[in-house]
Amino acid sequence: MIQRPRRNRRTESIRKLTQETTLSADDFVMPLFLVEGSGINERIESLPVAYRRSLDEILIEIEYCLALRIHSYILFPKIPDALKDKTGSYSYHADNYYLHAAREIKAKFPHITLISDVALDPYSIDGHDGIVSDGIIDNDSSIEVLVKMAIAQAEAGYDILGPSDMMDGRIGAIREGLDQAGYTDVGIMSYTAKYASGFYGPFRDALDSAPVEDDSIPKDKKTYQMDPANSREAILEAELDTLEGADYLMVKPAVHYLDIIRQLKDNFTQPIAAYHVSGECAMLIAACNNGWLDYEVTMPETLLSIKRAGADVIITYFAKEYLLLQKKLQS
Ligand code: PBG
Repeated sequence: MIQRPRRNRRTESIRKLTQETTLSADDFVMPLFLVEGSGINERIESLPVAYRRSLDEILIEIEYCLALRIHSYILFPKIPDALKDKTGSYSYHADNYYLHAAREIKAKFPHITLISDVALDPYSIDGHDGIVSDGIIDNDSSIEVLVKMAIAQAEAGYDILGPSDMMDGRIGAIREGLDQAGYTDVGIMSYTAKYASGFYGPFRDALDSAPVEDDSIPKDKKTYQMDPANSREAILEAELDTLEGADYLMVKPAVHYLDIIRQLKDNFTQPIAAYHVSGECAMLIAACNNGWLDYEVTMPETLLSIKRAGADVIITYFAKEYLLLQKKLQS
């Protein structure tokens, strides 16, 4: 045999030398769930690596994660029911605690990258990402609210905005709104190919943001999020986002859509972000807690697969877990 591929796998040192893909803290964005109040640090039952935290606890957590060299964070708010309405108007209200939180976080940690969520679902009594009108999610009136929300978030100090709503044309409208308001340096990480996935369950538990059960309201998000059966539509979405000015193209979920990550990576030049979503993390944890999988092997393997597929940015609830594990293995 002239070729013996096993030669390159013979020792740990040789394997490390020939390893194509590596992970570091620079790859990760750490998701954080914010609730109003103080001293709150509640574990999310269906996603046991994540917590709902009040701002004081978020500040402590960021300090801890910074010591592990995680410097990018994406923040999601849980909005009290009393502040929800049909049009999500609290999202750009001057007293909005999610906006105040950004000011405090950036005042304390000016060098981190803080990413927002732009969508109506946490603020909407209907639990949809846009405005529900006559039983449909109305695209263009939703965009008007999304633009106001985006400008308010930029003003509060978010570095990058993350429109996760999947309305048509929202990236262009948000870019124009930001530029007109003077926020030309605030970036947009577009949820470009966001699928109508069943893997968002624990996230919706965390924020109590699922579509409400009511016959006059669509029970799922299939009229705006993409069909899991489709890949060519992802290219169309990426083309539109590119024309409209997106700085990052995101694929969501990640692990079940590695082919989409690779397609966008091969066809576009913006950084590709992948959202390793709540259900994808939860199923791994559940299997490991049952003793059916080995966490220390499968968790890093999962993150590696996302990077190998082409992700430049990985949003994952395992960011801190992964770095703690590396530390443990090195010591
Ligand atoms: C809301 C939003 C969702 C997620 C991120 N932003 C839920 C949804 O679209 O229903 C899901 C993230 C996760 O499951 O970890 N626009």
